[in-house]
Amino acid sequence: MKHINEYIRHATFQKKMIPGFNVFGYEDSLAVVKAAEQANAPVLLMVNRDARRVMNIKHWGALLNSIASQASVPVGVHLDHCTELKSIQLAIENGFTSVMYDGSKLPLNENIMNTHQVVCLAREKGVAVEGEVGSVPYDDLGETRSEMTLPEEAWQFCQESQVDWLAVSVGNIHRLHEGKAKLDFSRLESIESLCQTPLVIHGASGIGSDDINKLKEHHVAKVNIGTVLRRAFGEALRQSFQENPAVYDRLTLFEKPAQQLEKVAYEIICQLK
Ligand code: G3H
Ligand code: ZN
Repeated sequence: MKHINEYIRHATFQKKMIPGFNVFGYEDSLAVVKAAEQANAPVLLMVNRDARRVMNIKHWGALLNSIASQASVPVGVHLDHCTELKSIQLAIENGFTSVMYDGSKLPLNENIMNTHQVVCLAREKGVAVEGEVGSVPYDDLGETRSEMTLPEEAWQFCQESQVDWLAVSVGNIHRLHEGKAKLDFSRLESIESLCQTPLVIHGASGIGSDDINKLKEHHVAKVNIGTVLRRAFGEALRQSFQENPAVYDRLTLFEKPAQQLEKVAYEIICQLK
């Protein structure tokens, strides 16, 4: 079986995109992997800041690598949106297959310098590094204005940092509902005409299916998805409580939400592959 990072590298020019799903525990991680197995497609399990707040990187590394090692499809373990070098080092030591250094809020030169430092740490362990130029805003934090990626800055960033994957801001916004994002495809074209680096689109929950299909025609190799799965799980959990007022056991209460999340993940994986 090819390494997950190989799949991402090849996806760039193959009209496919590999999904990275934010996961928050055992049940949803397993559900995502089951969906990937059913679709016979590679997938990334991503650990974001919220997930790291409730469980440390060592535990995440052990849990997700154990799930990944038993899967019949390539499963990557990715550290999502990280600004601290120490956490990145810990993730590299604990079997993560890729890490994102998020210097998107820093001046370009500082972002380049720090990202390059992470690339040097990661490369010798075969861990891929994702960086970000421009900044993808968070709708739930009231950040309505995107700092769109400037193509020349993207080029300079890729040249100097030697990053493996580049996250770009082209109208995509974190935590929106489907179809609300308005993507600037001409900006994306300018970026990819200058950079050969596989591109990453964050905030995919907010992108409608027509635009997702259009993204496949571009050099986008990885898309990040979180909100849509959290909603699927949360709404089904609420229904579980309502339908079973006497049940208090999480093993029972989580059954349907995990199935619902698996269904949504499966549909997304099929659309991207
Ligand atoms: O890094 C994580 C993603 O960008 C998820 O974004 O929750 O809007 O799908 P989303
Ligand atoms: Zn993101």
